[in-house]
Amino acid sequence: MLARTEVTNIQQTPAVLPTVLSVRAVGKSFGGLHAVNDVGFDVGAGEVVGLIGPNGAGKTTMFNLVSGQQKPDRGSVTFDGVDVTALAPSAAKRRGIMRSYQDGGIFSKMTAAENVMVPMLARGLKPRQADDLARKALGRLGLSPVVDELAERLSGGQRKLIDFARCAVSEASLVLLDEPTNGVHPSIASTMAEVIRERQEAGVACVIISHDLPWIFSLCSRVVVMVAGEKMTEGLPEVVGADPRVHAAYL
Ligand SMILES: Nc1ncnc2c1ncn2[C@@H]1O[C@H](COP(=O)(O)OP(=O)(O)OP(=O)(O)O)[C@@H](O)[C@H]1O
Ligand SMILES: [Mg+2]
Repeated sequence: MLARTEVTNIQQTPAVLPTVLSVRAVGKSFGGLHAVNDVGFDVGAGEVVGLIGPNGAGKTTMFNLVSGQQKPDRGSVTFDGVDVTALAPSAAKRRGIMRSYQDGGIFSKMTAAENVMVPMLARGLKPRQADDLARKALGRLGLSPVVDELAERLSGGQRKLIDFARCAVSEASLVLLDEPTNGVHPSIASTMAEVIRERQEAGVACVIISHDLPWIFSLCSRVVVMVAGEKMTEGLPEVVGADPRVHAAYL
């Protein structure tokens, strides 16, 4: 039996969603530095949650802990009711956790289309079908002219979009996006928001790290704020956006 996550969205009647991700008091230190210090939060099925905070707050480390790239020193991560704290990244991915990388973690020696095809081929799609879907996903993000270019020849923003497209075509039930709009034109950032909303309607939950606060506040039902490894607060975007402590942390 799955736990429930309370979600209050001012546009909707408060809903209760099954909890897909439950992070409990996780900690990760590097030498004497507490990159993540006893942080916990929940994500409901099909919920979009923002993870914000100034540079060095521990946001990317939190993604590493949820997706299995790093093991927490303390605490637990539960996904779909299963303890995934000790899982390898490949096992977390098989269970349905997909992530993007802050530096656009894609294969440099593959073309844009080939990169997007990888997760589809892995789940058994025919190459022709995967190629078709990859071109459509990239085209929607304005990358049609470079679908057959090697990723290493593309700009940082274009590489981020390829990484985003890989997540968009996956069948994951939880997607972690690390600063997806960095280096991306605002009109394409709007298209990315559309894609995220469509995935949400299909039941896909998403945690998004972003320094573009208006963009992320327009998308998510809840925002978790981290500062210096700790969770400072969590709440509705409107409330978090008006919190003087959050403003002070960004200054
Ligand atoms: N592998 C590592 N070894 C040592 N220190 C690390 C390591 N990874 C992260 N850190 C440190 O942990 C802290 C949190 O880093 P993290 O990358 O999680 O922050 P962030 O919130 O994602 O920041 P940004 O907004 O700049 O991306 C930083 O002080 C960083 O230097
Ligand atoms: Mg980061």
